[in-house]
Amino acid sequence: MPQPSTARWAIPARMASLLILPLLSVHASVEDPKLLPTPPMGFNNWARFECDLNETLFTDTAQSMLSRGLLAAGYNRLNLDDCWMTHERGADGALQWNSTLFPHGIPWLADYAHKHGFHLGIYEDSGNATCGGYPGSYGYEQKDAETFASWGIDYLKLDGCNVYPEGGRSMAEEYKLRYGQWHDILSAMAEPLIFSESAPAYFSENKTEWANVMDWIPFYGELARHSDDVLVYVGEGSAWDSIMVNYHFQTLLVRYQKPGYYNDPDFLITDHPGLTDAEKRSHFALWASFGAPLIISAYIPDLSDEEVRFLSNKELIAVDQDPLAQQAALVSRDGTFDVLTRSLANGDRLLTVLNTGSSSAKTSISVARLGLKGQCQYKARDLWTGKTSSIRDAIGINLDSHATAVYRITPGRGCTSVTPTGMILNTVSGNCLTASSSGATFKTCNAADTQVWSVSGSGTKVSISPLSNPAKCLAAKGSIIALVDCKGGAGTIWSHAITGHLQNANGDCLTESGGQGTLAGCELLQGGQILGLPSGVHVVDGSA
Ligand SMILES: *[C@@H]1O[C@H](CO)[C@@H](O)[C@H](O)[C@H]1NC(C)=O
Ligand SMILES: *[C@@H]1O[C@H](CO)[C@@H](O)[C@H](O)[C@H]1NC(C)=O
Ligand SMILES: *[C@@H]1O[C@H](CO)[C@@H](O)[C@H](O)[C@H]1NC(C)=O
Ligand SMILES: *[C@@H]1O[C@H](CO)[C@@H](O)[C@H](O)[C@H]1NC(C)=O
Repeated sequence: MPQPSTARWAIPARMASLLILPLLSVHASVEDPKLLPTPPMGFNNWARFECDLNETLFTDTAQSMLSRGLLAAGYNRLNLDDCWMTHERGADGALQWNSTLFPHGIPWLADYAHKHGFHLGIYEDSGNATCGGYPGSYGYEQKDAETFASWGIDYLKLDGCNVYPEGGRSMAEEYKLRYGQWHDILSAMAEPLIFSESAPAYFSENKTEWANVMDWIPFYGELARHSDDVLVYVGEGSAWDSIMVNYHFQTLLVRYQKPGYYNDPDFLITDHPGLTDAEKRSHFALWASFGAPLIISAYIPDLSDEEVRFLSNKELIAVDQDPLAQQAALVSRDGTFDVLTRSLANGDRLLTVLNTGSSSAKTSISVARLGLKGQCQYKARDLWTGKTSSIRDAIGINLDSHATAVYRITPGRGCTSVTPTGMILNTVSGNCLTASSSGATFKTCNAADTQVWSVSGSGTKVSISPLSNPAKCLAAKGSIIALVDCKGGAGTIWSHAITGHLQNANGDCLTESGGQGTLAGCELLQGGQILGLPSGVHVVDGSA
């Protein structure tokens, strides 16, 4: 069992690393968003080829990315996954590449990548062995970091297989210690490697523990694999379902993402034989809407021209790479449509709609649901077709099964104010906060106006109103949750923390308990209190 974890927050991660390395400048992660100001884009062999990687695959892929315009579109990383090494370390303790697979060596490949305008990334594991059974980094962290840097590598995906807790630590504590150690090593390098952390994926079965692990992840690295691997090329089962699993996990992590740190819902599997064309396009459009890493795991020389064309869609890539780095969050969800929104750096609002159902369907989405004022002029640009239309109060959407629409909504003059708006989701139970006559309950998400909340106010102090009753504010009234007139009393003031807590100015947390919205003392690892809010709500991150 994990130890009570309050003490973890006594020393925020940033300070902790300063205490350990007082004389070294600290470069990595949110401490310096410049290390990775927008999400990475590129290629990784894993989902397509698993352990069947080699030099030729990488050079052929690079040539194809160059000639087919993918490098120019922004896909500038070539990342090796597991199985690139030999089963034994060298006499000096250093990892060695398999010279049958990489006859010219990894430094040669890095040089080749750089000459053609790419970066080279690599894979290791924080445990005793990699998932494929090759030497893990445990006990060799400093050595391996130096080795990778000396080879010309600037990106490390660190997996979490074969980690065994020591010293009486819980599993979660062991991962935190190891990834923290890597963070310190990488941060102290003159040119820190980008750090992709797989730790959360090892905790996703228990969403309470998972959230607790996520709480430190953004302080240690630039991106994190957070849940199950996407289905590999030869895998059994539904590729679309595996994409949806990662998609759903991703929707629970909105509050963590910011410039310099990205939630990673895994590779784009664009040539997977189990996907329809609509599903391949949706996969890309949803990942771009999230501002997620766009790492293609496909045989790029054999992608169709149409696949290369949509993967190179400039306007969707611009959304992915938007400097605000907001992650689109759910506005509403019912059995058919997921509606998501976020802001873009130029003041536009993004609207993304996925038809999760099995047949085509129509819907209409009000601008109020996107946090915009009604009775205003907006231009809505369809990022698939490039067609622009004028809208005032709502936009009509007609979508095939598993298709995704993405619009960039540009406000007209006098209409530019945006209020973060959308679902308030218990990320453990999956239930939606729902306005009721007496206050608020938690229910299955149904896309009603009672489940769409406007979160207004500047900085860390916000007030929260349901779209069904905008004059009323969510309030702590004694020990119960009520909806009261929005007059700005302390009971109506809330702040949202990276832990998921939605804390009232009186100090208590909004809690799902027996289906009711209640107030209770704020506790870590309390599944009823780990809430997801709309994108753009200020998050108290514990290091402030
Ligand atoms: C390199 O890997 C690819 C993909 O697995 C394979 O098709 C090819 O035969 C391999 N080439 C060599 C030289 O091993
Ligand atoms: C290198 O990879 C090849 C092909 O997978 C394998 O047969 C060989 O045993 C590996 N060599 C070493 C030294 O691990
Ligand atoms: C993992 O590696 C450590 C350090 O080499 C060793 O002490 C430990 O016994 C190993 N654990 C297992 C389960 O192999
Ligand atoms: C999930 O983890 C939390 C915290 O460790 C624990 O209290 C809870 O019982 C676990 N839930 C399940 C279903 O195992």
